[in-house]
Amino acid sequence: MSISTIVWKKDHVRLIDQTKLPHELVYLDCYDVEPLCDAIKRLSVRGAPALGVAAGFGVLLGIKDFTGHDRHLFNAHIEQVCAQIGASRPTAVNLFYALDRMQMVVEKHPHEDVPAVCRLLEKEAMAMFKEDQQVCRQMGNFGAKLIRKGGTYITVCNAGALATSDYGTALGVFYSAQAEGKDFKVFSLETRPLLQGARLTVWELMQSKIDVTLICDNMAASVMKNQKIDGIFAGADRIASNGDAANKIGTYMLAVLAKYHKVPFYIVAPESTFDLSIKSGEQIPIEQRGADEVRSFGGCKTAPDKVKVFNPAFDVTDHGLIKGIVTEKGIITPPFKTNIKRAFLNG
Ligand code: MRU
Repeated sequence: MSISTIVWKKDHVRLIDQTKLPHELVYLDCYDVEPLCDAIKRLSVRGAPALGVAAGFGVLLGIKDFTGHDRHLFNAHIEQVCAQIGASRPTAVNLFYALDRMQMVVEKHPHEDVPAVCRLLEKEAMAMFKEDQQVCRQMGNFGAKLIRKGGTYITVCNAGALATSDYGTALGVFYSAQAEGKDFKVFSLETRPLLQGARLTVWELMQSKIDVTLICDNMAASVMKNQKIDGIFAGADRIASNGDAANKIGTYMLAVLAKYHKVPFYIVAPESTFDLSIKSGEQIPIEQRGADEVRSFGGCKTAPDKVKVFNPAFDVTDHGLIKGIVTEKGIITPPFKTNIKRAFLNG
């Protein structure tokens, strides 16, 4: 599955407006940082790696109309743009990883004039975009080894082409397995409240002619009990040094169920999703979203207007529930603390 989820068009960012899928494939053009931040908050563009790419392109939007030649003013301006983008969504560390890389370009070239730094920043944003495509395919190839012919798998939310610049993380495993000639089945959880599973994952897998069956989130236990499930594949928004992994709300529930039913549970995520500055999942900031996402859907009220709502967008799966983390460097297995370090810090 290859799709242009988000691209840089010289003076604007073009992205698929994912709030309109699956019924309309509509593109949204953002010419400024503010509309891009709004698109991120609304989930027009979403998924951790895609948010990283969006952040890099967002910085390009923020600098394109900078007129002066004073490097101090330019540096201060970049800082303000990064702060604005960084305030859009808190959980996916890929967004902050991309902003850090953009800021690093500025810091590493203190003597270049403003147009030269702008060119370097564009190069860096494009490099992150291309790296994302490459690492997704590498993860897919490693993960495909875990898929057996005739097997049945479960996924949650959307960790596909739409959540990256193309191809995907967890769904990339399915695409690579399909490319190897394996046939298999996938159950997709619908993923309330915003239905990324029903609207996006099902759309992607159907386009790719992968055998997908949609289930409500509360059917997962029964499906694991009554069908032979060979594995669960989910993406991640932030993984701590000990392997605790934040992903879409409901992922932890799946991992707990997987342990009870003896189903292997895998996370698929690139290095840019690891936050080695934190020890455990307890330190991962969890985004809380608006009550109306739970009280209604698609403009239809589904609950009394004033009912109290709890709406965390993500949960954290304890590393003890994870059988392996598929990365572009290979599949990391327990003990995660040691093996994550070994994979990424040559420790
Ligand atoms: O709120 P969203 O739709 O941005 O949440 C996305 C997820 O939870 C994905 O599973 C995660 O970002 C991994 S994407 C490859």
